[in-house]
Amino acid sequence: MKKLHNKVAVITGANSGIGLATAKLYLREGAKVVLSGRRANALNEVAASLKGDFITVTADVSRAEDNKKLIRETIEKYGKIDILFLNAGVVLRPTPTDEITEKHYNEVFNINVKGPILAIKEALPHMNDEGTILFNNSVVTQRGFDGLGVYSATKGALRAYQRVLTSEVKSRKIRVNSIAPGPIVTPIFDKMGLPKDVSEEMGKGFAKRVPLGRFGTSEEVAKSALFLASDDASFINGIELEVDGGMSQI
Ligand SMILES: NC(=O)c1ccc[n+]([C@@H]2O[C@H](COP(=O)([O-])OP(=O)(O)OC[C@H]3O[C@@H](n4cnc5c(N)ncnc54)[C@H](OP(=O)(O)O)[C@@H]3O)[C@@H](O)[C@H]2O)c1
Repeated sequence: MKKLHNKVAVITGANSGIGLATAKLYLREGAKVVLSGRRANALNEVAASLKGDFITVTADVSRAEDNKKLIRETIEKYGKIDILFLNAGVVLRPTPTDEITEKHYNEVFNINVKGPILAIKEALPHMNDEGTILFNNSVVTQRGFDGLGVYSATKGALRAYQRVLTSEVKSRKIRVNSIAPGPIVTPIFDKMGLPKDVSEEMGKGFAKRVPLGRFGTSEEVAKSALFLASDDASFINGIELEVDGGMSQI
């Protein structure tokens, strides 16, 4: 039997990178998948290449109304939620502390922290007992990277929030876990707005800090997102699983 047979999974930021790889894997494992993203055209492009039972919903996670819409359209189509993967996130341009602006802070926190929290608030009344909530955090909460202060703070905030949520939903046997990827090859780096050579140098620096000496792939992270969402992880709750080639450990 497929690992997610008949499960309904909502994935934010599913038009790209880790979210898209996870959506593809969940579909292969029998889930009904709601792929959400903020750009309708990107979602349409992705939808044309996918097979299985899925819908797409255009929703900007930083907007309360859009989170309501995401869950409303999910319930209209599938009636319940088993898996909620809060994956959407941004880094934006690396910014040292003396250059941080209120705009930069608000944008990163609104997408990375407010978004998941409001999506969970909307989803909880529609989640099946024994469902699963999954955050996409990062190893940046365990290692310091210059210029990534605001981004790292958002991921630390999610980890703290996750512990509270794990307790709040325990009576419903909902498991709440996180993935903490190390450097993964995805479009997130191109979206930082850095010149190509600077971006490449930064990438080499990241890879050097990984004991396995390389970036990971979205598919490698998706496999962990499948494991944590499936019954294979039925007694795993409240954890953060590093998918980082060992970067956080040495
Ligand atoms: N790649 C890494 O090295 C790495 C490492 C650790 C953690 N992570 C985390 O992994 C998650 C996925 O990132 P990725 O690497 O797969 O990058 P990605 O390919 O850029 O995917 C991020 C997704 O989030 C979406 N998104 C951004 N802002 C949004 C908003 N306001 N509303 C809805 N969707 C929004 C993006 O949409 P657009 O296409 O419109 O931008 C995209 O679909 C993020 O939370 C990131 O922090 C990544």
